[in-house]
Amino acid sequence: MTHPSSTLTIPSASAMPRHVAIIMDGNGRWATKRFLPRVAGHGKGVESVRDIVEACVERGIEYLTLFAFSSENWRRPAEEVSLLMRLFMTALEREVSKMHANGIRLRVVGDLSRFDEKLRRMIATAERRTAGNTGLTLTICANYGGRWDIMQAVNRLVQEKPGAASYTEEELGPYLAMAYAPEPDLFIRTGGEERISNFLLWQLAYTELYFTDTFWPDFDATALDQAILSYQQRERRFGRTSEQIVEQKKAS
Ligand code: IPE
Ligand code: IPE
Ligand code: MG
Repeated sequence: MTHPSSTLTIPSASAMPRHVAIIMDGNGRWATKRFLPRVAGHGKGVESVRDIVEACVERGIEYLTLFAFSSENWRRPAEEVSLLMRLFMTALEREVSKMHANGIRLRVVGDLSRFDEKLRRMIATAERRTAGNTGLTLTICANYGGRWDIMQAVNRLVQEKPGAASYTEEELGPYLAMAYAPEPDLFIRTGGEERISNFLLWQLAYTELYFTDTFWPDFDATALDQAILSYQQRERRFGRTSEQIVEQKKAS
């Protein structure tokens, strides 16, 4: 099933965000501050992933999307890139059984063609194994870029429905990499930078943005709760007036 754009339909005002998307930034600086190599920060970052996944399951969040590796991260030194790939593989190896036992459905989105064969096979196996789970949907964005996503969607749409003079947003939606999820309600970026860095460009159109200076390896369940609290104090208007939103709430 695909989800209608949240810019067209107001998601029901629930206390918990249904979909949380996170740019996990600040691993390198966390390590450097401790006179450790950057890779130590990535290792510690994996522990935060484990904690935040668990916290999301406990809080009944339906979708958690984590930016693990951007299309631009290939520009990093080769050793750091290959270490990140190895970390990704070991994490998959170690965590998938536990995820499966916890009812988590795993998805990996991005241009996977650049990954080596073994990693691609591991991803496919993990996705297949957890496909029937109905708990948290955990999406890992790997070699993902928002512009890549929009272009791959456009290209597939044009290929499958050639010849139209123009296409609509609704026609494009199902071709986006995360068509299986509603658009994110809450976006979190750790590490102090206030930018999107080519994450989910299309899908973040009406997402509430939250930035924190906390480095990803220090981001824990308490920090997640602070972000959720900030989200819960906002009024999502989607272009409407505050009065309309109040009226709608009264009516429902
Ligand atoms: C985020 O941490 C992890 C990845 C991009 C893979 P960084 O490695 O970007 O950490 P900083 O920003 O250098 O501190
Ligand atoms: C964004 O972090 C990508 C991930 C967290 C995977 P970066 O640290 O690569 O972002 P920029 O380049 O500083 O914007
Ligand atoms: Mg960074």
